[in-house]
Parts: sequence; structure tokens; C-alpha cells
Amino acid sequence: MPTINAYRVHKPGGPDALKYEAVELADPGPGEVRVRHTAVGLNYIDTYHRSGLYPLPLPSGIGVEAAGIAEAIGEGVSDIKKGDRVAYATGPLGAYSEANNVAAGRMVKVPETVTDEQAAAMMLKGMTVHYLLHSTYKVKPGDTILAHAAAGGVGLLMCQWAKALGATVIGTVGSQEKADLAQANGCDHPINYVQSDFVETVRELTGGKGVPVVYDSVGADTLLKSMDCLSPRGTLVSFGNASGAPPAIDPGVLGNKGSLFFTRPSLFHYTLTTEELRHRAEELFKVVSDGTLTIPINQRYALKDAVQAHMDLEGRKTTGATVLIP
Ligand SMILES: NC(=O)c1ccc[n+]([C@@H]2O[C@H](COP(=O)([O-])OP(=O)(O)OC[C@H]3O[C@@H](n4cnc5c(N)ncnc54)[C@H](OP(=O)(O)O)[C@@H]3O)[C@@H](O)[C@H]2O)c1
Repeated sequence: MPTINAYRVHKPGGPDALKYEAVELADPGPGEVRVRHTAVGLNYIDTYHRSGLYPLPLPSGIGVEAAGIAEAIGEGVSDIKKGDRVAYATGPLGAYSEANNVAAGRMVKVPETVTDEQAAAMMLKGMTVHYLLHSTYKVKPGDTILAHAAAGGVGLLMCQWAKALGATVIGTVGSQEKADLAQANGCDHPINYVQSDFVETVRELTGGKGVPVVYDSVGADTLLKSMDCLSPRGTLVSFGNASGAPPAIDPGVLGNKGSLFFTRPSLFHYTLTTEELRHRAEELFKVVSDGTLTIPINQRYALKDAVQAHMDLEGRKTTGATVLIP
């Protein structure tokens, strides 16, 4: 049983609630693989777990995404071998660590064309963008879509991938630098929503028609306004809470505003089986390997500096993806 360094949360709170500690890691159980991490993904959901917005049984590990080497193989695992390069985006929480035991059925082998850092940066964000654009609402050539936080980790991948599918992308961003970055990643019309009313701009850009889908990861500050950007029978996808938990939606309002569809999807429900998970991961690896998608890793921190990484992510200082290096 090795001793490793890992973050633990004992009490919900701000970034300081993350405590880096030496812990004993059990040998992998049946169906599990111990992964020695080479890169760990930073995701906004980690802040919800840390702050208590998504309550956890405490104390708890933290982090849901990493890449590394399969170091020890549990009983009954046949598809992953010792020494394989693997990656995962799944619970139970514990990716902010030097090593973690993960169910073999929730991990994928990383192809040679993808680096460990890329894998750690894209598994969760990339598979999320895959299901949002292909399954939650199927984006078609000629669609105009609205994506919030377009210069973020999920946002830049969404701009690139939606553009590659033939869509026109309108994206909201918090600064001019972020607008330029989103544009360089395929966002046709970045809107600085700190300075201007994004509902008005979306209406102008679409000749008053509105868009068939809004991907809203910002939550509290944007969700109700996002509804006003939709065309009749449009789909409002609420998939995050970067500005706080979104308000309740009254079904009557969905009717009055044009027989709208409302959904609150989670990656977990779009990767229910190992087959579905590996299918999405393969599609993601394919578009990264052929150059359709580039993974913008714009910040790197030592794993021991995860507190600073959380401060920067919540302070809207990061763009694209961030990795923590053990
Ligand atoms: N449901 C799912 O399956 C799923 C999966 C993955 C991610 N997500 C969600 O997708 C979103 C993006 O995740 P990410 O890891 O890629 O993060 P991110 O987009 O890189 O960071 C969050 C961004 O949200 C924007 N934002 C707006 N208001 C904010 C506020 N009050 N405080 C902080 N940020 C604010 C900021 O961009 P601006 O400054 O440009 O506004 C910020 O950079 C998160 O909401 C996350 O929970 C959901």
C-alpha cells in the first residue's frame, strides 16, 4: 500500500479548504487500476465540490480527471495492462493526487498522437462538448448557436467543434482579450457580456429570429436572459453554475416564450456505459489527432499549487484548459 500526496477536503469552503496531505492508497480492488498521474485536469466542478455547492460526504478526495500510467492492476481487469498510458474523467473524487484507483471500465487508453497533458486537459471538457453538440442538441451545418464563457476550457473547445460542424458561433466573454481568443478558436461573434446586453446583440445578429440552442454554463447571471435568445421550440441547455446556481424555471414561462425545451445535462448520464464512454473518447481523440480540435492548455500549475489554481479559475483569470502537474 503506497503513501502518496493527495488533496483532501475536510470542511467545505474557499480555495484554502483544499489540504495537501500524505495518505495511504489501498491496492486496487477488483475491476480497478492504480494510475500513477502525470497530469491532472482542473475543472470548474472541482470548485463546486470544494465549496459545498455540490455537497460531498466529508472528508473527501477531490478532482475527477487525470492521465498517467497504469501502475497496478486489480483482479478481473483484462483490457488495461501494467504500463498502459491511460486517462479518465470520472468519480469517485481523488484525481488531485499523485496516484488514484479508478474502475477500469471508466478509463481509456491514450493514443500515441495525444500527450498526457492533452489527455488530462480534454477528457472531461472534450467529452462534454461532444455530447452537448451531438446528443443534447444535434448541431447542424447552418445553425447559429450561443455559447456562454466562450473563452473558457469548455468554451474554446465548443467554439472549435461547433465551427467544424458548420455552425455560426455566437459566444459571450468577460473581456476584450477573451473575445480575441474566442474568435481565434472559431467564435464568429464574441460578445463582451460585461459591457453589452447579450440578448439584444443575439437578436440583432439573427435578424430578430433568435438561436435554436443556448449552451449556458454561467447559470445565475445568465440563464433567464438566455431564454430570451431562443427561437420558438429552441433548446435551453443549462450545464453549469460558474456565477452561482441558476434560478428555478417555471414551465409556464417555457410555453410563453415559444414552447421551449429545457434540460440540465451531466456528462455522467451521457457516458453511462463503458461503450458509450469509450465511443465519445474515441471521437474526441480522432478530432484531436486529425487537427480539427486543438487543446488550448493555457495554464500549468504544480499540483501543490492547486489552491492558487482555484483562485485563478474562480477569479475569471484563466482561459482554455488548465493542468496540474504532480
Ligand atoms: N454538465 C456537465 O456535464 C459539465 C461538464 C463540464 C463542465 N461543465 C460546466 O462548464 C462550465 C465551464 O467549465 P470549465 O472548467 O471549462 O471552466 P471555465 O469556463 O474555464 O471557467 C469559467 C468561466 O465562466 C465565466 N464566468 C462567468 N461568470 C463568472 C463568475 N461569476 N465567476 C467565475 N466565472 C464566471 C468566466 O469567463 P468570462 O470571464 O469570459 O465570463 C470563467 O472563465 C462550468 O460551469 C462547469 O461546471 C459542465
